[in-house]
Amino acid sequence: MGAAGGHGVLRPHAEQAFAGELAALAAADDRPRPARWRLSPWAVATYLLGGTLRDGTVITPKYVGPRRIVEVAVSTLATDRALLLLGVPGTAKTWVSEHLAAAVSGDSTLLVQGTAGTPEEAVRYGWNYAQLLARGPGQEALVPSPVMRAMAGGTIVRIEELTRIPADVQDALITILSEKTLPVPELGQEVQAVPGFNLIATANDRDRGVNELSSALRRRFNTVVLPLPATAEAEVDIVSRRVEQIGRSLDLPPAPDGAAEIRRVVTVFRELRDGVTTDGRTRLKSPTGALSTAEAISVVTGGLALAAHFGDGVLRPGDVAAGIHGAVVRDPAADRLVWQEYLETVVRERDGWKDFYRACREIPA
Ligand SMILES: Nc1ncnc2c1ncn2[C@@H]1O[C@H](COP(=O)(O)OP(=O)(O)O)[C@@H](O)[C@H]1O
Ligand SMILES: [Mg+2]
Repeated sequence: MGAAGGHGVLRPHAEQAFAGELAALAAADDRPRPARWRLSPWAVATYLLGGTLRDGTVITPKYVGPRRIVEVAVSTLATDRALLLLGVPGTAKTWVSEHLAAAVSGDSTLLVQGTAGTPEEAVRYGWNYAQLLARGPGQEALVPSPVMRAMAGGTIVRIEELTRIPADVQDALITILSEKTLPVPELGQEVQAVPGFNLIATANDRDRGVNELSSALRRRFNTVVLPLPATAEAEVDIVSRRVEQIGRSLDLPPAPDGAAEIRRVVTVFRELRDGVTTDGRTRLKSPTGALSTAEAISVVTGGLALAAHFGDGVLRPGDVAAGIHGAVVRDPAADRLVWQEYLETVVRERDGWKDFYRACREIPA
C-alpha cells in the first residue's frame, strides 16, 4: 500500500496516495489533536518519519532526516507562528510541506506558487469580472485565494518559493499572519481565520537576495532548515525509496540489483558537490548545478526506464552515465572541464568503475 497507482491520475496528491496510512494513523491515534487537525502532532510526525503502529500497520518514511526537524516543524504548525522551510534545491522542502498539509488538514491542495509575477490576488482575493459586471460586487463575485480558503476552513495553506514573490505582495501576508484576518473593504467584510489555519512556506537558500523576506514578515515564521543528507548511506536510502515509489507509479518493472548504480550516482554527486573525493585525497572542482538528491532521483529513474525499455531490465552503468553527465554539465562552458577532469582523474582510476568510465567516454561531448 502507499504510493501512487490505481488512482487514474499521473500524480495523486499525498492524501490520496497515502490514504490508507493516514486512515490507519487516525484510527490508532489516541493523543489530543489541535482544533481541526486530522491527527495529533505525534501521528503527523510518525506519518512523515515512518514507523509501525500497534496493529502492525507499517507507515513508510516520507522524510529521511533528523527526527527533531520534523518535530519542530509539526509543533510550529500547532502554534500561531507560520512555518518556513528553508534549504538548497532538492532538500525535500516542497515534499515535506505537501505531506505536512496532507497529514494535518487532509488536504495538500491549497497552494500558491511563488514567482516574480505572483499577484496580490493569489494571496488575498480576486473578482470574477462577469459576475462583477452583471451584479456588482457581492459574495458571488469574490474569488477567494487559497490563503483565504484556508483561513475560512481552518486548514493549512502552502506558499512555494516565498522569496520569489514581490515585496509588496509579501507584505499582504504580514496582516494575515499577525492579525489572522483578511479584510474585504469592497464588501465591508472580513474573513477571520478559524483555528486550524496555518501557513507553510518554502524558500530556496540560493535565492537569498532575490527578494529577501522583510524582517516584519520573517518574525511571523519559525524557520526550519532542511539539510542535505548527512551521509552517503542516508542519501542512497532516500534515492532508493523514492525511485522505487516513482518506478511503481510509472509501472516500471522493479530492477534487481539497482543498488550498485544508485550508490554510484550518489557517490559522483556527493564528491562533486563537496569538492573532494570520498577518501579525502583528491580535491575537485564543483560544477555550477546543485546536484541535489532530487536530481539523483531523476537520474536513476531515467536509467531505470532505459534499462526496462531498451536493456535487459537490469540497471547498468550505461543507463545512468548520460543522466549523470546531463546533471553535471549544465553550463557547457564552465562544467565540461570539471566533468572531464573528474572522469580522467577519479573515475578512470577507481576499482570497479571501468564500465562506467567507458560508458561516460561514449557520451558525445
Ligand atoms: N531527506 C529526504 N527525505 C526524503 N525525500 C527526499 C529527501 N531529500 C530529497 N528528497 C526527495 O527529493 C525530491 C524533490 O524534493 P523537493 O521537495 O522538490 O525539493 P525542494 O522543494 O527542496 O527543492 C522529492 O521526491 C523528495 O522525496
Ligand atoms: Mg521546492
